[in-house]
Amino acid sequence: MKTTKNVHLDTLLQHTGTAPFDPDTGAAPVALPSMRTSTVRFRNLDALERVQQAKVRGERAVTYGRMGMDTHAALEQVFCDLEGADRAFLAPSGLSAIALAFFSVLSSGDHMVVADCAYGPVRYMDKTVLNRMGVQVSYTRGTVQAMREAILPTTRVLYVESPGSLLFEMLDLPALAALAREKGLILMTDNTWGSGYVYRPLDLGAHVSVVAGTKYVGGHSDLMLGAVMASDPALVQRINETHYALGYSISADDAWLAIRGARTLPVRMRTTADHALQVCQFLATRPEVERIFHPAWPQDSGHALWQRDCLGSNGMLSIGLNLDAAACRRFVDNLTLFGIGFSWGGFESLVQWVDPAALASHGYWQETATPSVVRMHIGLESPDDLMADIAQALDNARA
Ligand SMILES: Cc1ncc(COP(=O)(O)O)c(C=O)c1O
Repeated sequence: MKTTKNVHLDTLLQHTGTAPFDPDTGAAPVALPSMRTSTVRFRNLDALERVQQAKVRGERAVTYGRMGMDTHAALEQVFCDLEGADRAFLAPSGLSAIALAFFSVLSSGDHMVVADCAYGPVRYMDKTVLNRMGVQVSYTRGTVQAMREAILPTTRVLYVESPGSLLFEMLDLPALAALAREKGLILMTDNTWGSGYVYRPLDLGAHVSVVAGTKYVGGHSDLMLGAVMASDPALVQRINETHYALGYSISADDAWLAIRGARTLPVRMRTTADHALQVCQFLATRPEVERIFHPAWPQDSGHALWQRDCLGSNGMLSIGLNLDAAACRRFVDNLTLFGIGFSWGGFESLVQWVDPAALASHGYWQETATPSVVRMHIGLESPDDLMADIAQALDNARA
């Protein structure tokens, strides 16, 4: 992916966030240190006032520790580089980044249309907080037609995730962006799957992109992080104000870890995507596997959209198994190289049996009529070992 700085993203990720040279010695460490602080001190009041004025202009100007200093600024730049955005705002988790995006634009009385394939806890946020705040939410298939039909006179936001969280169905983001513009709405999207490396929602027309840096950007299953990206000046201002008002803050150590993770994002992303495709090829030979959900897999229903909009893929896939629930659970329990856990995007393989209750409200799942779904994150282990493990677990599940 070419960037505005005229070098490839892979190059930029190795050169961003390096430590500046000491003016006296002309030397510097390669990596910026973790700059921990709770406040900022100024040489004199003039200096403080200059920074305060910059802050009023909406610039990144730090007068207190909450916003973070150079390490945070470097990570914000990493997210801007990844997503092709003018500004990035850090949040302590992916879910809190989604909340920041919502709170930045939604007011009491507003309505939001959410694609039914979006990350499940958004529904929990709706039930527990948005609803109480007077924001109304409708869920629908992430197709242009379904979203168009769900728009009300009070609708302000279309919120989507492409590909979908559980079955990885591709959405037509440019067409959804055109719908949002036609209706004067804001298109927000969760781009954790692409993490700015596989595709860039803002380039495809979205107004706001949210990423859970907990996944591929951090990449080592050892930190929680979120980020909200935008370029539209009015939206940037709203997000900036809301970010400040809500007191969002992340630790400098987590920012430092995330910058370190971003250095290897290209190799991890390419390798995990390659491993996932090898696993798909193996899965297709197994009689227990009815369907593979992975947009880079040629038989996936979203493959053409994936080819059009994405430059790569990642390690996430789901399998529709023709096993009953008990056998499906045996399959998961018998895997030895896959941790049973919810997350993804780290170095390791993970697996999760997808509760049919979580899929019941999912239009695409109803279309595919797949009873038993297992979601996997294919990690950086040898794919041969992973495939052997899946084979023995499937054999044991049927036994
Ligand atoms: C697609 C997606 N978005 C957002 C999140 C939330 O991220 P976090 O766990 O950092 O809150 C997740 C977490 O699993 C996710 O899968």
